[in-house]
Amino acid sequence: MPSNPKKATGAGRRIKIFPSILNSDLGDLRSVIRALDSCHADGVHLDVMDGNFVPNITFGPGTIAAIRGASSLHFEAHLMISNPEKYVAQFAQAGADSIIVHYEASQRLHELASKVKSLGKGFGIALNPQTEVDAIKPYLSSIDTLLIMSVNPGFGGQKFMPGSIDKIKAARMLLDNSSASTTLAVDGGINQHTCPDAIAGGANELIIGSAIFGNGGVSKNLKEFMGICTSATSADA
Ligand code: DX5
Ligand code: ZN
Repeated sequence: MPSNPKKATGAGRRIKIFPSILNSDLGDLRSVIRALDSCHADGVHLDVMDGNFVPNITFGPGTIAAIRGASSLHFEAHLMISNPEKYVAQFAQAGADSIIVHYEASQRLHELASKVKSLGKGFGIALNPQTEVDAIKPYLSSIDTLLIMSVNPGFGGQKFMPGSIDKIKAARMLLDNSSASTTLAVDGGINQHTCPDAIAGGANELIIGSAIFGNGGVSKNLKEFMGICTSATSADA
């Protein structure tokens, strides 16, 4: 059966925007989440860091539990932690709707996938910039989200790394040639300039931090990105 040409380029697919709260007002997260909800974000990207897998520490399941009641938005927990298998149940319990672990952080990804799915949550794998896309091949049938890091994980406000677009295209090709209907997410350095290329490369989920929580205000910034996404996909349709 010829593969759907639109599918090949990622065209005609709705682009989801998941703001990352890492650089938001961490002192008033419930208001941040409520604001994202009222601005119709597609979900919230929660960057969990342990100071071991990455050189930064953020928050854990307790914080997620504390903000869960602020909105019914999809909570996507990005675990930049070592030994994620020890903690996924706590993040599920805390209210994460999907849990993304790093390929580089675990030797037991198949086991992790079934554990997260048995908890009724979405499962994703993130690839660091240095990890080839082909590394994900053995897990294609178990993941709901493939997350391509376009910065080295650990901090918001970094520059989109050159070479990320080729990697996004390779990932899109891999997903389109498999039967999986996996979301292709891109995380790090997404702004008004890098966003169109990431979409053209085949991303269908954009994780955006400082370009949403930076100057201009959340509502205005989010609206601007929604406009970019709409024109990028209708142009291809
Ligand atoms: C970095 C995190 C990203 C980051 C995105 O380790 O995984 O989610 O917060 O922030 P910006 O959009 O500012 O790069
Ligand atoms: Zn992230």
